[in-house]
Amino acid sequence: MFKVNDNYLKLPGSYLFSTIGKKVKAYEAAHPDKKVIRLGIGDVTQPLAPAIIEALHKAVDEMGKAETFHGYAPDLGYEFLRNAIAKNDYADRGCPIGPDEIFVSDGAKCDSGNIQEIFSTDNKIAVCDPVYPVYVDTNVMAGRTGVYDPSTETWSDVIYMPCTAENHFVPELPKETPDLIYLCFPNNPVGSAITKDQLQVWVDYANKVGAVIIYDAAYEAYISEENVPHSIYECQGARTCAIELRSFSKNAGFTGTRLGFTVVPKDLKSGDVSLHALWARRHGTKYNGAPYIVQRAGEAVYSPEGKEQLKKQVAYYMNNARVIKDGLKEAGYTVAGGVNAPYIWLKTPGRMTSWEFFDYLLENANVVGTPGSGFGPSGEGYFRLTAFGSYENTVAALERIRKL
Ligand code: MLT
Repeated sequence: MFKVNDNYLKLPGSYLFSTIGKKVKAYEAAHPDKKVIRLGIGDVTQPLAPAIIEALHKAVDEMGKAETFHGYAPDLGYEFLRNAIAKNDYADRGCPIGPDEIFVSDGAKCDSGNIQEIFSTDNKIAVCDPVYPVYVDTNVMAGRTGVYDPSTETWSDVIYMPCTAENHFVPELPKETPDLIYLCFPNNPVGSAITKDQLQVWVDYANKVGAVIIYDAAYEAYISEENVPHSIYECQGARTCAIELRSFSKNAGFTGTRLGFTVVPKDLKSGDVSLHALWARRHGTKYNGAPYIVQRAGEAVYSPEGKEQLKKQVAYYMNNARVIKDGLKEAGYTVAGGVNAPYIWLKTPGRMTSWEFFDYLLENANVVGTPGSGFGPSGEGYFRLTAFGSYENTVAALERIRKL
């Protein structure tokens, strides 16, 4: 008789955003007259920029002619895209990352879930609390997290690094030494940022204790402050301790188009074993590459027109962030985030739990957000709103919230 991977059975509930999706669907079915505004999952709403659409059309036409048709993509991704990434995201910021250290994929969610496969199951992970659920859940699936305690909503073999108002939502170095450290900056869900000096402390720590930092920089395009690093490779020594995850979802609106990449520097080793070689082996075996047309669309992100158009798109969403933040403050809420990130993290009013506030907001304002406790125990009593809605919906949502 076959057996299932019973690590899956340890997962409590369903994936956070699936749970929310189901709740909202049920509410809408019961109240068809209500216009629900979704500021929950960080899904973009603005159309792809014209430079990207143009590149897509051109690539589609190429696929229709024998002489310009493309089959399987190269393992690491097309050179035209990896060269554009290496130049614009790394060389131009003084980061020593070569095109052959960049692995193109169909997005950072898959990469952030899959990267743990190249590490031993007895490695101990450290995560921020609250945290993007994919990091923890995929380690649960791999059997790396020990036993779940429903009373504390924590796993016995995970090191939690609380991000609270007291530490300005930036974690402190853990007391127990981890093997793998997940960091996401600008942060999802709390919207905080880390300065270059603060990140350097983490890089030095990881090199000292022999840990790897898995650095999720999916929101780097939203950085507005000078001393905030866009890449972990801006820090000295990061090549020997850090893997970086990047996404085209939030900086270029690819949530439905799918494109991302992971950087694994060749200097990152466990003894003689290169993590670059392991990830290349995994990528080559399990993945057949992001579509040619999508990689061409990704290349257009780095064209002068693409850059200009996307700067405006990011500014559009950050204006929403300002509308949310200012509106909530005027309504008396305590808020964080929204300066270097498209997420606003608010304290729930009174003694409401995160899920109580979720229901309250859905029922009374018909606005969907994300309960902070869904991201981890330190998220209890908090709530996340995203700036990725349309301007009109964002303004309408805030008007409804102010009237509560
Ligand atoms: C979020 O809402 O946290 C993100 O959009 C989810 C994701 O990027 O997978």
